[in-house]
Amino acid sequence: MSKPRFAVLGAGSIGCHLGGHLVAAGYDVAFIGRPAAMDVLAERGLTLSTSVRPPVHLTPDQLTLATRADAAADADYVLVTVKTVGTETAAKDLAAHLAPNSVVVSFQNGLHNPATLRAALPGRTVLAGMVPYNVVQSAPGTVHQGMPGRLMAEPDDTLFAAFGEAGLPVEARADMSEVQHAKLLMNLNNAINALSGLPLRDQLGLRAYRRCLALCQREALAAYRAAGVTPARLGPTAPGITPYVLGLPDAVFRRVAAASLKIDARARSSMWEDLQRGRPTEIDSLQGEIVALAAAHGQSAPANARLVALVHAAESTPRTWTGPELYAELSAAR
Ligand SMILES: NC(=O)c1ccc[n+]([C@@H]2O[C@H](COP(=O)([O-])OP(=O)(O)OC[C@H]3O[C@@H](n4cnc5c(N)ncnc54)[C@H](OP(=O)(O)O)[C@@H]3O)[C@@H](O)[C@H]2O)c1
Repeated sequence: MSKPRFAVLGAGSIGCHLGGHLVAAGYDVAFIGRPAAMDVLAERGLTLSTSVRPPVHLTPDQLTLATRADAAADADYVLVTVKTVGTETAAKDLAAHLAPNSVVVSFQNGLHNPATLRAALPGRTVLAGMVPYNVVQSAPGTVHQGMPGRLMAEPDDTLFAAFGEAGLPVEARADMSEVQHAKLLMNLNNAINALSGLPLRDQLGLRAYRRCLALCQREALAAYRAAGVTPARLGPTAPGITPYVLGLPDAVFRRVAAASLKIDARARSSMWEDLQRGRPTEIDSLQGEIVALAAAHGQSAPANARLVALVHAAESTPRTWTGPELYAELSAAR
């Protein structure tokens, strides 16, 4: 088979990171993004950076840039990398243009994006994928991977071969729902990081913020238990133990969780970026999912609910919280 062609719908941090690696490996990729973002790439090209390898620069003439979903018409694979608030619109945009056999892959956070895509694209193959590491736009036209990690997705040999060639090995998982629930536990930190105003490594180094995350994770684990969900184990620590580890004093945590603090000094959650840019956040698909799941099983998730409210407030009126302030606020909600 000739090389598969790709389109990325939502050419932001993750879309440019995935698509850029594929272009560097010689694959055709149509980047579909907002006009202002595509203008930056047209002027500067795209730089892929990490703290462990020299950056890779793609010149503007190596990039196929578009602002409408019809650019995905020739793609064998469409990688959906919009934020969850944009999935329904993206799916509707795609429906009119997808080639009959193209495969759609969601590389988004949250629990319901593949289902939303499947509902809008009946008869299409939609695969769930997961990005376990952090990527930020560290400068115009530069996407920076802030920590190591291995992508996960439902199995597809052609897709995995292309990603492997592009230096993005993918682990095949038959339990993507459990993987997504485990990832959601980690993503409960996105809101805490965004409200802290700190880089991830600094924020996770401070016990008061970690205790906020532990509160959120305990509520989530209780809701999962009630719903009969067993989150996958993605790291060295079992999900049920993580809240305890998060609550350890800073010096002990630094020793016990040294691997999880191997984060680039610049890394921040993408929710922080959203607040900086005045964009709506994914909070309803993160803490909001826990609140809804708890309510569906006769429980409450007050710390998560308070964070939903605080992040929505910060979308219109930015403010940062110290760790002790935020912990007191979440504790008072319980
Ligand atoms: N960044 C990370 O570190 C990271 C890591 C793991 C997973 N994820 C997940 O990956 C997904 C993408 O995150 P991200 O950080 O890459 O987001 P992002 O930087 O905001 O990129 C998404 C881009 O797509 C654009 N867009 C939205 N709808 C579109 C449409 N219909 N047509 C064209 N462009 C459209 C957005 O523009 P507007 O902002 O104007 O809508 C934005 O520029 C999220 O679910 C996130 O939670 C992110």
